[in-house]
Amino acid sequence: MINHIGILTSGGDAPGMNAALYGVVKTAQHYNIKVSGIKKGYEGLISNDLISLDIQTLQSSMHLGGTILRTARCDVFKTEQGRACAINTINKNKIDALIIIGGDGSFKGALWLAQKSNIQLIGIPGTIDNDLAGTDFTLGFDTAVNTSMQCIDKIRDTAESHNRVFVIEVMGRDSGYIAAYSGLTSGADSILIPESRNDIESLLNNLDDFHSDHALIVVVAEGDEVGTQEVCEKIKSVNPNIDLRLTKLGHLQRGGNPTASDRMLAIGLGSFSVHALLENKTGMMVGIINNRYCLTKFAGVIKKHEISEEVNKLLAIFCR
Ligand code: ADP
Ligand code: F6P
Repeated sequence: MINHIGILTSGGDAPGMNAALYGVVKTAQHYNIKVSGIKKGYEGLISNDLISLDIQTLQSSMHLGGTILRTARCDVFKTEQGRACAINTINKNKIDALIIIGGDGSFKGALWLAQKSNIQLIGIPGTIDNDLAGTDFTLGFDTAVNTSMQCIDKIRDTAESHNRVFVIEVMGRDSGYIAAYSGLTSGADSILIPESRNDIESLLNNLDDFHSDHALIVVVAEGDEVGTQEVCEKIKSVNPNIDLRLTKLGHLQRGGNPTASDRMLAIGLGSFSVHALLENKTGMMVGIINNRYCLTKFAGVIKKHEISEEVNKLLAIFCR
């Protein structure tokens, strides 16, 4: 029997988190379940910082990026004392179930809670990196790709005007998903990602016959083993006369209004997570695979989300 759900957003924020809150609260309201928002991820769970969430507030914030609950990377939660305080908050407020919106780190925390308490726990994948197994897409990925793609389009305008080579770093702590999707959709010449080992060699080989009568766009994932600075140095070592610029897109990729795709994913997974709780599911993340909602145990989602075979084929033809 679930009377009270607690919900928090944790780790890096991602566009679509507010829409997921809307999906959860609207569905919970349908079943007469109370929902409390926990501020700043696991920090609010430790310090008992709870707010009530009403539909009107969520209707007017679902289109916004970031998270109205705020988020945090909370190291205290990794200590015994921090975890004891978190369990105390759960008991004191009679929270029957917890929904955690975040990435793999947040689910490692949830895994620990699942082992130490009887509370029901469901995770919603919220990270722009799209680096979780158990779902084809995470909240915020589509928005981040659109943002990066538009930035690369703009860089192309100036790159072509000067026939310059641009090395552009996009986000993705350990994952090449944003680089692969934003690079392919903006016609990049080369895409360097951590999942592929010899892409830098192909780029350098192609530079042998590079003439400065056109531009060249190189997209590099932040998590690639060859950092952008080194990529620039290697390009210069092949041809010192190349007119080269480096741009790091950085945190602007994490902001902005979620796309329609991200909003649909968010309200769908938000609603599905309440239904999963009502079916007594726990210790699992909701996700979407082949257009169907699904559940995967936390331990299974923490492993790497490999670049799909279809995207790898495109990378081989378009960018090598
Ligand atoms: P993300 O969820 O986006 O991957 P982080 O890796 O920063 O972001 O993790 C978010 C939070 O989850 C951390 O600040 C910490 O509170 C909690 N967390 C991460 N790893 C663990 C762990 N091994 N054990 C307990 N809690 C963890
Ligand atoms: O996990 C999302 C992400 O944006 C990564 O792509 C990036 O490496 C990291 O978070 C940046 O974290 P911070 O906001 O702590 O600088």
